[in-house]
Amino acid sequence: MTLKRRNSLPVLCCALGLAVQAPGFEPVAAKHGIVVSAEPQASDVGLEILEAGGNAVDAAVAVGFALAVTHPYAGNIGGGGFMLVRMATGEAGEAIVVDYREEAPAAASRIMYLDAKGDLAPEASVVGARAVGVPGTVAGLALVEEKYGKLGLARALAPAIRLAEQGFPVSYALSQSLQGGQALLSRFDGSRRIFLRNGKLYEPGEIFKQPELAHTLRLIAQGGPDAFYRGAVAKAIAATMEKYGGLITLGDLEQYQAKVRAPLEGRFRGFTVLTVPPPSSGGVALIEMLNVLEPLDLGSPNSYQSIHVMAETMRRAYADRAAYLGDADFVSVPVAGLTSPKYAAKLREEILNSKPEAPVVAGGPAAWSEGAQTTHFSVVDADGNAVANTYTLNGAYGSGVTVEGAGFLLNDEMDDFASKPGAPNMFGLVQGEANAIQPRKRPLSSMTPTIVLGNNRDSGFGIRDSGNQSPNPEPRIPNPGLRLVLGSPGGGTIINTVLQVVLNVLVFKMDVREAVTAPRFHHQWMPDELLVEDWGFSADTLERLKEAGYKVNARGGIGECQAIAIDPETRWRFGAADPRGDGKAVGY
Ligand code: GLY
Repeated sequence: MTLKRRNSLPVLCCALGLAVQAPGFEPVAAKHGIVVSAEPQASDVGLEILEAGGNAVDAAVAVGFALAVTHPYAGNIGGGGFMLVRMATGEAGEAIVVDYREEAPAAASRIMYLDAKGDLAPEASVVGARAVGVPGTVAGLALVEEKYGKLGLARALAPAIRLAEQGFPVSYALSQSLQGGQALLSRFDGSRRIFLRNGKLYEPGEIFKQPELAHTLRLIAQGGPDAFYRGAVAKAIAATMEKYGGLITLGDLEQYQAKVRAPLEGRFRGFTVLTVPPPSSGGVALIEMLNVLEPLDLGSPNSYQSIHVMAETMRRAYADRAAYLGDADFVSVPVAGLTSPKYAAKLREEILNSKPEAPVVAGGPAAWSEGAQTTHFSVVDADGNAVANTYTLNGAYGSGVTVEGAGFLLNDEMDDFASKPGAPNMFGLVQGEANAIQPRKRPLSSMTPTIVLGNNRDSGFGIRDSGNQSPNPEPRIPNPGLRLVLGSPGGGTIINTVLQVVLNVLVFKMDVREAVTAPRFHHQWMPDELLVEDWGFSADTLERLKEAGYKVNARGGIGECQAIAIDPETRWRFGAADPRGDGKAVGY
């Protein structure tokens, strides 16, 4: 498809030094720092912190807490996620992953969601207190702030406390989203009262105040993560669990810890790709797919050739996901083998020598009810420090349960386990033994926060209309190499969304806004179907794919990528919020 471009100039730093999401098609350009999130007020919070002297970590922590207030659909303190941090220190820089994924409570068991006949009990792993994993967000954000932040947890929490206490105007998107969440939220007292105002739904423009959440955030600002995991908030969570028949105890909360892990590192056409290890499957699958695709001619974007080769690669990586991936602290995961060039060569041979496979019928259309329930934000600061963070409540508004008296929603992340190995979860993903439920284990995720490094300028970093030149080149600053910071929500589609945006920039030379906007497709092995965005592909291409044997199904948006690209010559930052959502890129 041809992407239409305006001939206007990009939005650059204006008189006030601010740069915000362009109404048109170009990425936002900023000389110093840039924040891209799924919710405009949270992006503004990130900018506020950067301009107050905070670094990318301070800004990211502040955005994480702000989204818990302004984007209750997925932003959270009652869920979990993964943060990839790359500090521009020293010659090589330093990168870590903070794994603050939720954890199964001690009383969880392999068969907890099965009925007497051994079938999955409807809703059991998705709705209500038994679906909740021990939340990790507060531990994760506090850990990273302590390790790398400059301003401290209390300062990073201040904007979120302000937004919760003073309230903020409800956007059209939030009012629609709350309306969409009615069926779930109305089932639980606190949720019905806070998010649905007992049936008097919020209209756009009305002010949404959350005094109970403000109080909780204040307790965390004063007492640190202990306030959440051992103090008053822990007691409120345990009481809510008792009321609704959940399993999480004070002991589960007290022992929870965010874990620092080494990022997975892959190579692709001269670039280094940093991403997340298990218990997310995202990094392994992303590197496996990039390894397969590296030497191949991908043709032009979204042509039959590129879709076929990429879909066959996706199919194999997702089959491996189902067979081998789980929490590597509990099961043996062959990460090195799956991400090795030798294995990629074997898969490539298989793909090149096979005809497009006739679909194996897997029981009709998938249960694709999910939208973009998870949420991602990306931050780069003036020193070149970068954060890619993806976190979630799992389903929209998580389990639907709000912690009584504490004002925040709890996740339904237990559904990301294989409740019955071999049966699909809410994303239609079939998962295996490696991801079976065990006490204290973390469920397999698809979250794929990713950072790309490299000096190769032959890719789409700047603004294409201006010949890929960003304005006012500056002398190089030390520690070159940061190129792309990105991630996406979208359940099982996350990994393929990140793959496509990376390829759009590195291979197809799109600028970052084009790269996040371009139509996407998705194959996840089972069900055996090729999902395509319903607006983005030519009838001819779809026909050819069908003739080749693909079962093609169309749907609305796939993923919602928030990305930042850095021009290797000039160091200008270019941000793009995915137009599939309501996010905003803002920089200075
Ligand atoms: N809950 C979605 C994921 O972790 O992939």
